[in-house]
Amino acid sequence: MLNDIKEVLISEEELNTLVSSLGERITKDYEGKNLLMISILKGSVVFMADLMRSIKIPCKIDFMSVSSYGSGVKTSGVVKIIKDLDTNIEGADLLIVEDILDSGKTLSYLKELLMARNPKSLKICTLLDKPERRQVDLSADYIGRAVPDEFVVGYGLDYDEKYRNLPFVGILKEEVYSN
Ligand code: IMP
Ligand code: MG
Repeated sequence: MLNDIKEVLISEEELNTLVSSLGERITKDYEGKNLLMISILKGSVVFMADLMRSIKIPCKIDFMSVSSYGSGVKTSGVVKIIKDLDTNIEGADLLIVEDILDSGKTLSYLKELLMARNPKSLKICTLLDKPERRQVDLSADYIGRAVPDEFVVGYGLDYDEKYRNLPFVGILKEEVYSN
């Protein structure tokens, strides 16, 4: 598995720092609110698990699963709901927790869908952001770090369902996905 990684982009230590500072900001901003964190499966589970433990106010969690990529590295533009929320989100202060914001198509679709259910507010927290790749007008409210336009894996992020268990974020060797 490690042989397929070209370079470690974000170490475990840096991930810890990024996640703690996001947790601190969210703790301050959501004091006295009705925080409901929505983790987008499966890429954000590792981030979600760490982020929620760095938040020091009461919060609820829920999960949603959508697919936009299949097993490739380019977005299809088609977003399919595989698992919907269990919770009624009316009146909740939603925080969507995502692994990486790329073209923005997935979150732009999800945002519209969730807004139609009348939450009190909706914000987006993404661990990673690839701003150069954006195809729709969307930005996250909380961003761990911007990354270059390279395919990254680890800390929840996959290529073909693999590498999610790497404890760091690394750049995948091109030869792994080019053939
Ligand atoms: P978007 O709709 O193009 O913004 O796609 C976002 C989704 O694409 C993310 O939730 C990831 O699942 C996937 N994705 C985008 N870039 C990468 C990457 O570099 N590594 C792994 N998954 C990625
Ligand atoms: Mg994915």
